[in-house]
Amino acid sequence: MIAINTKILQADSAGLECAAKLLKGGEVVAFPTETVYGLGANALDARAIDKIFAAKGRPADNPLIIHIADKADFYKYARSVSDKAKALIDNFCPGPLTLVLPKAEGIADNVTAGLDSVAVRMPELPVARELIALSGLPIAAPSANLSGSPSPTCAADVMEDMQDKIAAIVEYANSGVGIESTVVDCTGDTPRLLRPGKITLDMLRYVVGEVELDSSVLSSMQVTAPRSPGMKYKHYAPKTPMYILEDMSIAQAREFLQAQINQHNQDIALLISRDLLDVLDTKGAQVRCWGSMDEVDKLARILYSALRQFDRSGVRFIYAQGVSVNGLGLAVMNRMRKSAAFNIIRSGIVAK
Ligand code: TXA
Ligand code: MG
Repeated sequence: MIAINTKILQADSAGLECAAKLLKGGEVVAFPTETVYGLGANALDARAIDKIFAAKGRPADNPLIIHIADKADFYKYARSVSDKAKALIDNFCPGPLTLVLPKAEGIADNVTAGLDSVAVRMPELPVARELIALSGLPIAAPSANLSGSPSPTCAADVMEDMQDKIAAIVEYANSGVGIESTVVDCTGDTPRLLRPGKITLDMLRYVVGEVELDSSVLSSMQVTAPRSPGMKYKHYAPKTPMYILEDMSIAQAREFLQAQINQHNQDIALLISRDLLDVLDTKGAQVRCWGSMDEVDKLARILYSALRQFDRSGVRFIYAQGVSVNGLGLAVMNRMRKSAAFNIIRSGIVAK
């Protein structure tokens, strides 16, 4: 791939104008959203979309989400919108929710990996919507990381993966949610949750009644990863081996981690709650603390940036404290277990 000098643009009117012009010219531009940073290109231009797949090293059979700035565009890029899909749009959009809908004409085939459906999202972050509106285009955008790595939640993390590979990046604040949008398939009679996120299963069910859990969500929560090569779950993963502590009391987690710290000291990184930090002697270990055990939204916000920071610091082991799978916890544990390649420690035993 030819090295491109990646421009850093501010999220002011001059910066957004420049970014929109690049998008209209078929270039790839990274931009902030409330979930994670995205890698945007014109969804009507197959060659622009190819550049996204090349920059990420993403397999061509993994479809992209189209980002829109106007609710009416759900109806423009979908062939049809069911009553339940409409209810989800009315209740949660703009927001961290992606709807998979029957695909209308016009969207490039490589955006949807040849599928008859299209994923559409209207981001909540005003800067993202301003940029999309200025471009006048539907913007296809995966998370702005190299395929398999943790998603970026700040401009510096995008640069780490995308410098010299894309035309520009719009620099803005850290992403508020920190993990990717909830994805719901609305092509059938009953909506189906494909990827958990900030819009939780309970929130979806409150609006539309029954929502099925896709088997991929359940299998992504299993302790033992399936053995077939196609099901290999390298995703959101740091380079450093990562382990999750699950179903352990604070006392059990303390006992296990203190022994590790005493032995490995500065080779260890910890992603833990305030409750656990308070009872540990962390010595030379790297620590990112998210708050008290029930502040799962804070864990979601720092998860990916912590994993990237730990990789840069050169530690040999990452230990992360798991949370319960209620509410946003389902999405956080879905990402954490994949990040850790299912290395789960229960009461001091590696379950995998
Ligand atoms: O929060 C987000 O959704 C971020 C920001 C940038 O908006 N984007 C994001 O994109 O996470 P990406 O490409 O990393 O994840 C898109 C997910 C993938 O799991 C993909 O397989 C699924 O959406 N997807 C896209 N189109 C689909 C379709 N037609 N049918 C089923 N799944 C689809
Ligand atoms: Mg992604």
